[in-house]
Amino acid sequence: MKNQLLILFLLVTVFSSVEASCKPSGKIRGKKPPPGQCNTENHSECCVEGKLYTTYKCSPKVSDHTKAVLTINSFAKGGDGGAPSECDNKFHSNDSPVVALSTGWFNKQQRCLKKIIIHGNGRSVEAMVVDECDSTLSCDVDHDFQPPCPNNIVDASKDVWKALSVPQKNWGNLNITWSDV
Ligand SMILES: *[C@@H]1O[C@H](CO)[C@@H](O)[C@H](O)[C@H]1NC(C)=O
Ligand SMILES: *[C@@H]1O[C@H](CO)[C@@H](O)[C@H](O)[C@H]1NC(C)=O
Repeated sequence: MKNQLLILFLLVTVFSSVEASCKPSGKIRGKKPPPGQCNTENHSECCVEGKLYTTYKCSPKVSDHTKAVLTINSFAKGGDGGAPSECDNKFHSNDSPVVALSTGWFNKQQRCLKKIIIHGNGRSVEAMVVDECDSTLSCDVDHDFQPPCPNNIVDASKDVWKALSVPQKNWGNLNITWSDV
């Protein structure tokens, strides 16, 4: 009886930790972008030579108040997002509320063109998921020498920042919570 209880306890512990935790999928070492590569306009980051970056295929579990970091991205043609959005192969106006989610939350396009609600700066805004913020990529030419996305990012158009009434000088990094609509 005692042993059975112990086994049950172990199983519950193992399964709940598997569900709750999101472990890194690997590490990559940054390579210095060649001259003219990696566009740093509008808050884009470039890989740093020798720096270790952690990659993830998962993100923290989604709840009614999923903690995340809001960043800023251009979804327009010629913007720092680069290619058209993965969900619909289109560019989007930065005056519309659109976001990219970290790989785990993007969940193999499962949230594509669905709405999420973002709470931040004492306000809320609904935004549509159109793209992935890739947490698995490496610092190479295919990714404009940008580091992998952390696994807790909601990368948003400026319209989202405006809707949350964040003063323009503070756009780029904000702790928020979000949930599915
Ligand atoms: C930076 O943002 C401005 C204003 O949103 C935009 O016109 C410009 O194309 C962006 N540049 C890049 C490289 O994303
Ligand atoms: C944002 O959240 C992180 C992790 O929860 C915390 O360490 C940090 O202090 C927060 N930043 C602000 C400005 O509240």
